[in-house]
This record gives sequence, C-alpha cells and structure tokens, in this order.
Amino acid sequence: MSERSTQVGRALAHESAHGHVTGEARYTDDLLPRTPEALHAWPVQSVHAHARVVSVDTEAAQAVVGVVAVLSAASVPPGGQNQVGAVRLDEPLFPDEVSHHGQPVVWVLGETLEAAREGAAAVVVDYEVLPAILTMAEALAAKSTLSEAMIIVSGEPEAALANAPRRLEGELEIGGQEHFYLETQAALATWDEAGGVFVHSSTQHPSETQHIVARVLGLPAHAVTCQSLRMGGAFGGKEVQANPIAAVAALGAKVTGRPVRVRLDRQRDMQITGKRHPFWGRYRVGFDDEGRLLALDVALYSDGGWSMDLSKPIMYRALFHIDNCYRLPNLRVVGRVLRTNKTSQTAFRGFGGPQGMVVIEEIVDRVARAVGRPAHEVRALNFYRPGDCTHYGQEVRDADRIARIWDALMTSAQVEARRAEVDRANATCTHEKRGLAITPVKFGISFTTSFLNQAGALVLIYADGSVQVNHGGTEMGQGLHTKMMQIAADGLGVPLSSVRLMPTRTDKVPNTSATAASSGSDLNGAAVEIACTQLRERLAAVAGRMLDLPPADLRFAQGRVFPFWGEPTGERSQGFAEVVARAYLERVQLFAAGYYRTPEIHYDEQLGRGKPFHYYCYGAAVTEVAVDGFTGQYEIVRVDVLHDVGRSISPLIDRGQIEGGYIQGLGWLTCEELVWNEQGALATRGASTYKLPSLGECPEVFNVELLAMADEPKVVKGSKAVGEPPFMLAISAREALREAVAAFAPEGAPASSVALDCPSTPEAVYWAIEALRGDGRS
Ligand code: MTE
Ligand code: HPA
Ligand code: MOS
Repeated sequence: MSERSTQVGRALAHESAHGHVTGEARYTDDLLPRTPEALHAWPVQSVHAHARVVSVDTEAAQAVVGVVAVLSAASVPPGGQNQVGAVRLDEPLFPDEVSHHGQPVVWVLGETLEAAREGAAAVVVDYEVLPAILTMAEALAAKSTLSEAMIIVSGEPEAALANAPRRLEGELEIGGQEHFYLETQAALATWDEAGGVFVHSSTQHPSETQHIVARVLGLPAHAVTCQSLRMGGAFGGKEVQANPIAAVAALGAKVTGRPVRVRLDRQRDMQITGKRHPFWGRYRVGFDDEGRLLALDVALYSDGGWSMDLSKPIMYRALFHIDNCYRLPNLRVVGRVLRTNKTSQTAFRGFGGPQGMVVIEEIVDRVARAVGRPAHEVRALNFYRPGDCTHYGQEVRDADRIARIWDALMTSAQVEARRAEVDRANATCTHEKRGLAITPVKFGISFTTSFLNQAGALVLIYADGSVQVNHGGTEMGQGLHTKMMQIAADGLGVPLSSVRLMPTRTDKVPNTSATAASSGSDLNGAAVEIACTQLRERLAAVAGRMLDLPPADLRFAQGRVFPFWGEPTGERSQGFAEVVARAYLERVQLFAAGYYRTPEIHYDEQLGRGKPFHYYCYGAAVTEVAVDGFTGQYEIVRVDVLHDVGRSISPLIDRGQIEGGYIQGLGWLTCEELVWNEQGALATRGASTYKLPSLGECPEVFNVELLAMADEPKVVKGSKAVGEPPFMLAISAREALREAVAAFAPEGAPASSVALDCPSTPEAVYWAIEALRGDGRS
C-alpha cells in the first residue's frame, strides 16, 4: 500500500516552539507549584579537590529553622546502595573521600530553599587533605588512569613512517566545554501510597535514572517510575549526570515522606557536573611532496575527571573519527583516559568525535603548509573514495558524497574567487587580516556500544479516533517529538492535530536507551512506524469490510480511508474515526507496541575491527573570518554549509540543528574557556566569566543548505541523523582563524606552521600572531 507522505518532509515549527517562547511549556522544576509541601535540597560541597572526609557534624544545621533533614550515607535504606555510578561502581552519592572541588558531601533538605542553603552552610566537615592531580601531565606522570589503552591499527604505520618522503611531529591540547543547557539539572520526587516513587527528572535516559534510583533505594525497578517531561537543553550533559540528582530527590522523599525537589543553580551545576573531555594529542605523520598522508601514529589522552562515566566510549569515538574524511592507509591510534581530581567529564555533542577531528584537521593543515599547498587542496587530495574502508575496517558507504558536497560547496560559496579577494585585501591591510577555510565532516551514526541501538514505542488509538504516541526518546529541544508526530500522523494517515505526543515515561516503554548518539529519531522513529503499521493493518481489515474492498487496496491519508485509486472523500471512503469506532465495536485491539533494533552493527575491541556504525553523515562548511592584529579579536564574517541529512523528515528542525550545532561548535573552538585555579576549583562558574557564543558571534551571513537527492534507504523515511554532526562543521572557523593568523607573517616569510591554541580565543589568536610576527615586527 503506497502512502502519500503528508506530514513527513514538511517544514514544521517545533511542536513546543510556541510554549518555549511564551513560557507555557513546562519543565521539570515548573511542576513544583503542584506540590506545595515539597522540600528543597542544597548540597554541602567539598572545599578540597581531594580529601578524606573525617567527620560531618550536622548539629548546627539541624538547629536552623526550616531544616528538615540532612541526607548522608546513613540515610540509604537497608538493601539500598550509596552508589550512583552508571558504568562502573565508582561514584558514591555521599563520598567518604571527595575527589573534586565542589563535590557534594551531604545534602540538606529544608522547608524553603533558603533554609536548606543556610543549613548547608552550617554543616561542619572535617577533611584530611590528600594530594590532588589537576592536569593531564600530572596524571600521566603519576600513571593515574581510568582505562586501559584502546588501540586501533591498520596497515604498517611504523614501516610507512620510516619510508615516508617527509615527516612531521607535534602535539595539541584541546579544551573542554561546559554544556550550559539553559535548564540546569533538576528532579522532583514523590513517594506514593503503594511504596513506590515517582521521579520527574530532566534526564536524557529515564530508564537508567529509574535503575539508579532503584539501586540507591534498594527497590525493584517496577517500584520506580521516571518521567522526562522535556529538557531545556541537555547536549549529552544529562545522559548520565541527571542520575545523582534524581537519586537525591528520591532518597529525600523516602526519608521524609514528602516530595523533594532538587534543582541546581548555575554555579553549583557548573561546579558539580562533568563537561566535554579536554584532550591532548601527540602525533607523527608521514607524507609525500604533494601532501598525501602515508602514515600516522597518534596518541590521544583525555581528562576523564574523577570517575569513569562515559569516558571509554567517548575515547573510542575519538579513535573512530581520527580519520575524519581522509584515507589513512597506515595508522596507529592509541587512546587513554586519565584520571584527575576534576568534575567527571561526560557526553557532549559529538562524544569525542570532535576532539579526534580537530587533531586530524590540525595535522592536515600542517602537512599542507609543509608542502606549500593550499590546505583545501590537500584535504581534497586525501578524501576517501568509493570502496575505501576506515582504519577499523568499515566500508565508507557513499564516500562519493564527500567530494560531491565539497565540490558543490566550493562552487556555491565561491571559494576560489573569495580566496583571491581575501589575498588582495590582506595585501593592502596590515592591521586586519581575513581568513577563509573549508573543512569536511564525516560522522558515524549508532551507539558504538552496539546493544544500546534499540528502541520501543507504544501507540494508542482511542475510540474517538484520537491518538497518543509514547516512545522511549526524550525531548531536549532537538525536535524529536515533532518528527515522531510526523511519522505517526503519516503512519495512520491522520492530521497532526489528531496525534498527541506524551511525555517520556518508563511505565510506557521500558528498558530504553539514552536519547543520544544522534540516533533518537532513527531508532524511535522506526519503532513508532512499526507500531503504526500494525494498527493500520488491523484497521484496514475493518475498513475493508465496511467498504467492501480488499484491505490491501486501502489508503490512509488526511484522516480518511479510501481505495488508492479514489479520492479521500469519494463515495467509497470512510473517516478514520468512523473506522476506529467500528473497530472498537468489533473488539479489535487499538494499541500497539513497536520495537526496532539496528541490524548488522558490531565491534570487536580486541581486534580493533568491526562495523560500529549503521551509516555515516556527511557535510562541509566554509567560514570566513576577519582578525584584528592589535587585539586578536575577530569577527565571523560569513558561513556556508552544505549538509547531508538524508531525506529530511522535518527540514526546519534540521536547519535549526545545523545552525545550533555550528554555533555550539564555534563556542567550543573559539570563545568558551574553562579555568580551574591552583586549588582545583572551577574559576569560570557562570556566564560572567565563561564566554558563550551569543548573537554577536553569529556570522553576518549564514547560508545553510541540505544536500539534495540524499535518501538513506536503511533509515526511517529515508532520513539521516542530524543532532551531532553539524557541531564539527565549526572546525572550519578555527582553520579560517589559522589562515588569518598566517597572513600576519612578515612578507617573504611564509609560515611553515601556525601554532594556534584550542580554544582559539582572541587572546590565543593574539599570541599566535605575535609568535609569527617575531623579528619581522617593526
Ligand atoms: N539540540 C537541542 N536543541 N538541545 C540539545 O540538548 N542535544 C544534542 C543534539 N541536539 C541537543 C540538541 C545531542 S548531544 C544529541 S546526541 C542529539 O541532539 C540527541 O537527539 P536526537 O538523537 O533526537 O538527535
Ligand atoms: N554516543 C552517545 N552515547 C553513548 C554512545 C555513543 O556513541 N555509546 C554509549 N553511550
Ligand atoms: Mo549526545 S553527546 O550523544 O547526548
């Protein structure tokens, strides 16, 4: 039965866009007024980066008016565990040894937030200070690690390095990034009369939040229900780190019998929660005189902070993306996660991919300068070609799209003409230099932890023909629910107004994976579609009897059921609601569960071989910048993007993801800088000291195009994931800055390399220019 897609492919606004801007959309903490008897929680935070907790004296706190309880390890009920580690059991909720500055030691519950806060200030903690490890270099020297070495080797890297006509070596440090979701971590827990707990949580992973709450309370999972209404941004920061917050709320509810609300303020959120992993890369590269990459040996280190969290799969994704779009026939890449006394670094859009790709783009630029060719030529020279395989043995399917996108963007963004224009301008202006760069993106889609690639949906049709859709994915602003509504509406042939998307709850779809790895709409969309197909088949049988037609001849569209050769309101047609009403009378089941798992993916860590990704997303971006030589300040003049989202389910949503991803990547690479002081305390703990990209950093011209004729046959509705890949388009901005910096080199002394710190803040750009001007400066 062929369907006319009426909703899928439409450029719709986000289903909650109106609520987002009017304030009508409710977030977890907005539910607080519904439970006026709720208690408020405030943490007592460590004032040391590493120390043994000798004693905690709560007497003065208990005496503060309005303080109701102090939650500590002693509050954990028999059978429960003082343990919230999601991957490894290495995260006590109430630690007897603190491992980073600002870490919660105990939590105070009060009638008001002020009482809880005052109570927390009155708690006296006695510490025995221990030596702290605050940098990756210190961690490496002390052999302080969280993981074994992860290794992927292909070809003969050592021999190829030795035989390469030319060689380079170098290193690069890459900074972390604060998620700065507008909605900070939040949870609200209520104890119910049947001995269970209901937790509203701003979580990307309700099933795991449920599981961790159950562990802390010593309950079976069925006693815990977790709901994620929507999130005001998550970006990976709520993939695991929502769990301890929910656990505190649930434990508080258990101990006091009253609802408990936890919501971190911005300072506490920044001090307590993990960030993007800082990376450190060391490499040796071998190449020929044209800039062809012949051999590469890379060591990647990441700063995992104090606990394991998702550091291992994040490092794996960095190893998987060290190639970006380039063929590296002889490669050895080794990753190690270092343990430091910092916040536990965690998932962040791109999940290690961006760090791996910044390293290879830095290398390619250095190779290009060494052989004296424009970087964009050396990039294109090294592209994967159809039939090529990655270093981990996966075929680069649709590799031709890399060149297709590249060539189309070179033309549409007029790269050659504008490069000439930039050169002319730079020749005449000494104080301001322009830079223009184009970089490609290839990003693998699937959780690299293969078993996570599964999803479920539960679709309910009520007797009046209205539809509720439940699925396992969470909404964090990315537009997942909008896409799911479009898929469900077309799946049943009803208008969007007939479909209601329900908040994500663990009692509707169990054992879900985090909404992460950009796979939310691929996985849940397929599950929703499978559920709708079952329902449509059942209803077709009913309608067939009503219309005296074979079910296979019926079409469902525009809220009607009719033969595919007829009209929706033709003589032989029925309203969807009428068919549903009849189905109910005929005792036909009007709800269905859909389940989907991604086929064929696997990875063998020992061999370093497999097919970890279902497919790849491709894109490219051109960025032009203008840099002021006196201050290092710069402007993003123009950005052009061509990006592959397959056949878009929701073009407006996808465009928003591309623009937002680019700007977030731009923030990471240019202005956002985390600073810790000598005591290991985070110095940048608010928007006043942590510079986020804002309207002022947005490019004056921002052209975004979706790649045409890009159907992905193996994914729901021919679409592709979009959430993370565009983040890495911003690497073009850093490379454009490097081009501009290079233009400050004294005449006749072309720079053979341009060292540029990452993030490339105005200060970093200034010092990079200074280093180049060197003696040539007048
Ligand atoms: N977009 C918005 N507005 N808010 C977010 O928190 N998270 C990003 C991306 N886009 C995020 C976002 C991350 S890290 C991921 S993995 C994907 O959305 C997750 O959603 P998806 O799988 O439905 O694309
Ligand atoms: N991406 C995001 N989250 C994850 C992944 C991944 O590849 N693997 C495990 N958790
Ligand atoms: Mo996204 S970092 O996979 O939540």
